[in-house]
Amino acid sequence: MGQQRHRHRHRHTVAINTGGGDCPGLNAVIRAVVKRGQLELGWKIIGIEDSFDGLLSDEMRVRELDRASIAGALTKGGTILGSTNRGNPFRYGRRDGNAIDLSKRVATRLKELGCEGLIALGGDGTMAICHELSQRTGVKIVGVPKTIDNDLTGTDTTFGFNSAVEFATQAVDRLHSTAESHDRIMVVEVMGRNAGFIALHCGVAGGADAILIPEVPFDLRAVANKILERKAMGRYFSIIVVSEGARAKGSEPSDSKSLRLRSIGRSVAAELSEMTGIESRDTVLGYLLRGGIPSAYDRILATRLGNHACSLVEAGNWDRMVAIHANEMSSVSLVEAASGTKQVDLGGDLVATARGVGIVFGDEEI
Ligand code: F6P
Repeated sequence: MGQQRHRHRHRHTVAINTGGGDCPGLNAVIRAVVKRGQLELGWKIIGIEDSFDGLLSDEMRVRELDRASIAGALTKGGTILGSTNRGNPFRYGRRDGNAIDLSKRVATRLKELGCEGLIALGGDGTMAICHELSQRTGVKIVGVPKTIDNDLTGTDTTFGFNSAVEFATQAVDRLHSTAESHDRIMVVEVMGRNAGFIALHCGVAGGADAILIPEVPFDLRAVANKILERKAMGRYFSIIVVSEGARAKGSEPSDSKSLRLRSIGRSVAAELSEMTGIESRDTVLGYLLRGGIPSAYDRILATRLGNHACSLVEAGNWDRMVAIHANEMSSVSLVEAASGTKQVDLGGDLVATARGVGIVFGDEEI
């Protein structure tokens, strides 16, 4: 049916790639683009391997995507195209350490492949590269927002975030029971870079006693007070969720690039133990949050975003990032998408709700 319908239509050739850290739902977007673009509209879809690297390496690494390429992709974690967060065409790394600008090669290679434009799945870094590419080389791009961190501007949410929150919540649930058995403080560290969305959401969903996020510099004495109050009421265990980018009051904000070198959960656990006299343990969820199958919510969101990206291409509406606003599909300009990252709204309802049910953030009066 679809094949017959599109025989009379103009046939686009469109490239697709995935950039930055992987997350659940990337393959669900690729599948939606192939299903709508190739199977329904008759386009040729060319997958580029490892973000922009597949276009930049001496030998191109690209492949045409079809029905067979996306078999089982809806539920598959990671990305079938591969990814890298070191593949900036404007500062392309060489073995001798000297980065070179290969951005023009992106444009020429896409032309050689007969591609009208590119559908680029990525986070803030990828959107910034896409904006620069469209400005400086004229490459036509539709961006699709992904990241477990949920920190992209221009969209209410990103796919990958919900799956990460679901997993983190299960982890908090599991830590609850062992914390209670052993009368311990359990500290769980989650990813999120400079945004505390994952910590806030899994902390509320998992019934944490304290949530420490980058947006609220903390004083651990406030957290210790909470733990001791609980003890006085016969609750001998506590659950503390810490975002990897959280920092103590008065300390310098960390360089986001070096976050993976830190383990804030460990020091928070040790200090709280010292302050309260209660035994503590820490667990770092790290990359577990990025793996595994996408949640139902993320599969639906990824499919909607992939389908909407095709609608923009079909309408010739390039240089935009597809987005979700108030549960409706929409889009924003790449310049807006690349304008910075988002953080937790401290005046928002979820922070107020958390405080309302007694969760501390470490900024309470001591
Ligand atoms: O942006 C996603 C993310 O997983 C962050 O939460 C984390 O800080 C970072 O990527 C880790 O990146 P890398 O894959 O370079 O270690």
